[in-house]
Amino acid sequence: MQRREFLQAAIGGGLATGFMPALHANAVATPVVDLIAAPAQAMLRAGQAQATRVLAYNGSVPGPVLRLPRGRETRIRLRNALDAPTTVHWHGLRIDNAMDGVPGMTQDPVPPGGEFEYRLNPPDAGTYWYHTHLRSWEQLALGLAGVLIVDEDEPPLVDQDLVLAFDDWRLDDAMQVDTRSLGSLHDWSHGGRLGNFMTINGVSQPRYSVARGERLRLRLVNIANARTMRLLPNLAGFVVVAVDGQPVEPFEPTGGEVRLAPGQRVDLMGDLDLAPGQASPVEIIVGEYAYEIAHFEALPAVRRERPLDEPPRLPPNPVAEFGPDLEFRRIPLLMQGGAMGGLREAEYQGQVLGLRELAQKGKVWAFNGVVGMPAEPLFRVPRGSAISLEIENDNAWPHAMHVHGHHFQRDSEPGLWRDTTLFERGERGTIRFIADNPGQWLIHCHMAEHMAAGMETWFEVT
Ligand code: C2O
Ligand code: CU
Repeated sequence: MQRREFLQAAIGGGLATGFMPALHANAVATPVVDLIAAPAQAMLRAGQAQATRVLAYNGSVPGPVLRLPRGRETRIRLRNALDAPTTVHWHGLRIDNAMDGVPGMTQDPVPPGGEFEYRLNPPDAGTYWYHTHLRSWEQLALGLAGVLIVDEDEPPLVDQDLVLAFDDWRLDDAMQVDTRSLGSLHDWSHGGRLGNFMTINGVSQPRYSVARGERLRLRLVNIANARTMRLLPNLAGFVVVAVDGQPVEPFEPTGGEVRLAPGQRVDLMGDLDLAPGQASPVEIIVGEYAYEIAHFEALPAVRRERPLDEPPRLPPNPVAEFGPDLEFRRIPLLMQGGAMGGLREAEYQGQVLGLRELAQKGKVWAFNGVVGMPAEPLFRVPRGSAISLEIENDNAWPHAMHVHGHHFQRDSEPGLWRDTTLFERGERGTIRFIADNPGQWLIHCHMAEHMAAGMETWFEVT
């Protein structure tokens, strides 16, 4: 990449540090952005002796924050400088099927040295992300992900718009990604690849400078392979204004805790009420313990003596609401397999195989008795059909179910439009949406290892 192009991408896309430049005043539309996937080096911890070898977009992990206008086309030119094929998926964007980045379904893999131009015309404002969709159990674990923001036509007034992308890495003593355990059947059949080193925006325990009275918008994004994060932002009075990019009727997180499954996002907004010099930790709950993973530090200055007048909230997006008298087509989806799951056999590539044979192939998860992508879709419906997926998690592990190209409502969360939702072990639930985006779309578990080990299917909107 030429240096000028890189600078353009970096400026247009905002910086990967978490701090967005003084906001909307100088947010520039980026009609063409270059995204280069290549090996790189990262300092995940300040002063580490040897930089961590990663795979990165435009040289950083996570990649640059891409800022797109709503309702207008942006072209993103992916160049593959890896030594393996790749694609990019724009998680949560309701865009053209041909741009969805699913290898073998919506496009061919981009070979090493190859290019692909993505044309994105996002209908919804909000917080999204982008990531590799090829061998994501490996490429995502090595760093190929970034945050994508679609700006509101009239963004709400805030003093700082901070992106916080949470990741967990599995590192060895030399701070290198433990690549030997990539593909471990143990991870694949249990909870997925969990890391031992947390970063936010690619660094360990960052600090964010804030000032009393400021209004903050925090865009929390879980880009980890498999870890569900329970975050305690410890910011009194902050409200959730969006989930998975879609605005919600603002509410305070229960018990101050925000749960983010892999792939999920939450936007928080509020007025900061820290005294100058005071610090406020962000903690993550791991097992029974809470670890401090970042903190906000109040500057000596006071930004606003009086908080902003308008209450924190976001303008709505054009998601199709459910009309009255909709006939939902009911489609059962049974999730089976994994360790301690009791699955005896399942169909894989047209053959019924026992668990042992499946395990030898690294294929241990099934939807409706089928492991991996079936030849026929889970359902094929005309555009505009109302769909009710009746999901049962009949195994011993939680799964973050993700639907491509659409947002859905879950029966337990009326009014929230998500693209990814967590099913705990044994949990049942229904997700409903209008299949209004033509094409072939994936439904899969967002624990990257579960997907690789068979937890994926697809549907077609004609
Ligand atoms: Cu975020 Cu199919 O993925
Ligand atoms: Cu899963």
